[in-house]
Formats: sequence, C-alpha cells, structure tokens
Amino acid sequence: MEKMWAGRTSGDVSKIADDFNSSIHFDKKMYKQDIRGSLEHALMLSTVGIISREEYLKIADGLTSVLRDIESGELTIDESAEDIHMFVEAELTRRIGDAGKKLHTARSRNDQVALDLRLYMRERCLAVRGLLISLIEAIKDKAYEGRELVMPGYTHLQRAQPITFAHHLLAYCMMLMRDVGRLDDALLRLNVSPLGSCALAGTTYPTNRDMVAAGLGFDGIMMNSIDGVSDRDYCVELEAAFALIMMHLSRFSEEIILWSSWEFKFVELDDAYTTGSSIMPQKKNPDMAELVRGKTGRVYGDLMATLTVLKGLPLAYNKDMQEDKEAIFDATETVEKCLEVFIPMIATMRPLGENMYNAACRGFINATDLADYLTKRGLPFRTAYKTVGQIVADCIAAGKTLEEVPLSKYREYSEIFDDDLYGEISLRACVEKRISRGGTGYASVNEQLGYVENFLKENKI
Ligand code: ARG
Repeated sequence: MEKMWAGRTSGDVSKIADDFNSSIHFDKKMYKQDIRGSLEHALMLSTVGIISREEYLKIADGLTSVLRDIESGELTIDESAEDIHMFVEAELTRRIGDAGKKLHTARSRNDQVALDLRLYMRERCLAVRGLLISLIEAIKDKAYEGRELVMPGYTHLQRAQPITFAHHLLAYCMMLMRDVGRLDDALLRLNVSPLGSCALAGTTYPTNRDMVAAGLGFDGIMMNSIDGVSDRDYCVELEAAFALIMMHLSRFSEEIILWSSWEFKFVELDDAYTTGSSIMPQKKNPDMAELVRGKTGRVYGDLMATLTVLKGLPLAYNKDMQEDKEAIFDATETVEKCLEVFIPMIATMRPLGENMYNAACRGFINATDLADYLTKRGLPFRTAYKTVGQIVADCIAAGKTLEEVPLSKYREYSEIFDDDLYGEISLRACVEKRISRGGTGYASVNEQLGYVENFLKENKI
C-alpha cells in the first residue's frame, strides 16, 4: 500500500520496519470510534465552511458505508495499512474519490488517535463499571443469605474472633464500591476532547472544537493542544483503577481457594466454575479463582508498562505512545473477563455454615469475650487478659474448649466468674454483642447491607 505520508521521503519502508511500525493489528479494535470521530469532524468542517455541504454528505455517506461493511464482515480490515486511521481514510477515498481527501483537513493522526482511544476507553470503563455493580450485587445477595452464619474471623490467618459470613463478604462490597468511585473519578478527566489539537500546535483553520466535543459526548475540550496530543494520564489512571480491582478480586480468590479446600470446607463452588484433574479422580479444583489471582500480575504489568513508556517522553507526540494501546486493551480485557466469570461463580457459591460454625468453636476465638466478661465486672483489662491467657494455655494442655471448663475450675482463676459466663462466651453472643457501627453484630450488618443496597439503587444502570 502506498504511504499517505510519502512526501519528503519516498515512503519505501523496508518490510521489517513496516511491520514493526504498524499498529493496525491491535488498533483496528477502534474502527467504530475512528469513524464516529471522523463523522463529527467532517460535520464541523462543513458547518464552519471549511468543506462544502456536498462534500460533507459524501464523506458521511462513505464513512457510514465503511462502518456498515466492517460490521457485516463484507469489508475486512487490511492489515497492510499502517493503522486504523490510515485504513479508514484510504477506504473512504477509494469509495468517494476526492472528497475523501479533504477529511483530514485541520486534523492530525496525533489528535485523532488521542480521540479514538478516549472514546474507546470511555466505553470499556463503563462496561467494567457495570460489571462491578453486578458483582457487588451478587456479593450483597450472598451476604444477605449468610447473616446468621457464624465463622471464625482471622488475623495472621489465625482464628481471631467470631464474625458472620455476611460481615466478611460485605467487606468486599466496600472495596468494590471504592473501585466504582475510582472509575467515576478517572472518567471525569478522560471525558474531554483532544480533537482539534492537530499535530501539536492547533490549526490556522477556523475550527469549532467545542462543537465536535459536544457531538461526541465530551464534557469539554482539552485546553492546551500540546497536552491534548501528549496526555495519556487517563490510561494510567484507568490501569491503576483496574490494578486495584484485580488486587481485590485476587484477595477474594485466595480466600475462595482456601475456603473450598478440605482443610476449610467453608464453601462449595458450583461444578460449572471448577475443573477436575486428568489423573486424580477425587479432585475439584477452583481454577477460575486461581486464574483471576494469576491474571492480577498481567494488569499490574500493564500499568507498569504504560508508566514506563511515558516516563521521559518529551512533549508532544512520540511514536513510543503507540505502545499505550496494547497495554490498556490487555488490562481492560483481563478485568472484564475476570469479572464476567467471578459474578456467576459468587452467585452460585454455596456457604457451608456448619463447617464454619465448627471451625469457630475451635481456636478459642471467644477468649476476648471472656476477658471482657471480667473487665465489665471490675477487673482491669490487662489483668483480665493475663488471667484468660492462663486459662487458654491450661485448656490447650488439657485438650478442652473454654465452654467445657466447669465453673468450679473458673473460680480457681478468679472469684468474679459466675454461671452467666457461659452465655456471654457463646459464639452467637460474641457476635450479637459487637454492636459498634461497622462491627459484626446483626444490627450493624443490617446497616451495612442497607448501605450497599442504597449504593446499588443510586448506581443501577
Ligand atoms: N498508530 C499511531 C499511534 O497509535 C497513530 C498516531 C501516529 N502519529 C504519527 N505522527 N506517526 O500512536
């Protein structure tokens, strides 16, 4: 294909260099955005009188037919074109002749690619946002089911204090709600139009940048043309937001992997989201959760790649920036795929309440409550802590739980102990008594459920 930019140079680039330079095999994803941007640009050119109405109508017709034919499969994107922008323009000119050659007036590929990527990522960002909302809803529903299920809460992966399954799951809702906030925040800065920045310095034509921006659904225009073609902050912001989403999914995956092991058996994943082993017939492996955990590394890598590409780039456009796309496409595709499998995996996950309860019965997770029992009856907390520490040590030696120690024995440790201690250290009581806001008590968990439900109501798409 003859180079459109053959001018000063012959355009005869070596095959190796041409392939190396070409981006069409990944930027062809943006054909729709490219055509949409060109349609608005052409409309503006004719409105301000840079091209005639007839030329605009020809261009609009031509672009619409190119779009239609790509969508229907009639037109295959020719990968020998350098990039999607060149391909669309060449195809347009092939179809409508000279009018097509006017499309690129008062525009450069530098602002064109900046525009296309913003339009593309705006859509992807909203798609990820929608998936996040669905996941929050699925987790919230699971939490609602698990309001009465008592399980051990952990610190250092050691049993620490009793909590409800609902309380634990709601922690993930809070994380993912912050992720939605980060996407919304990134969108504010993404949603301004770079088109009209041209190569870097603007143009001598009487363009109307605001008109194009409004037509494409932007909140405004980028105020500096050099920044307009150089800025990829929104890519970094989105990748950082995606990296955090992945980190949250990865932590959740790790727990699901642990919980579905024989050692825990707190949940059972639906067969549809597990695999078997080719040699061990008894196996049921949580591959989806493992893959999500594994793919987190890719998204972190995409963020690092983009930051590193941008570091040290002089203003304005440099070809290095072509590297932005593969990274951010990979990041968004990975996040989307992970969320798509995570949502039904959570929705079909079965909590095994009895196993959770049995695990909570072991490990002295009511020891804090036993210390609180003494404290509330006058003993200073540190003294109570010491006394209970001794009781726990003796129980471990005797192979007993705190509930199994008779009152007469308790009295040897402290005169304060009375009959009512057993009620106070029952696991249900331990949970019920944690009435502080945000805590694991039933009222608090209901408040948290309401908080998430409210968020979902306000953010329903
Ligand atoms: N394929 C290029 C990219 O993705 C388009 C912009 C090319 N601009 C240029 N001056 N060579 O960045």
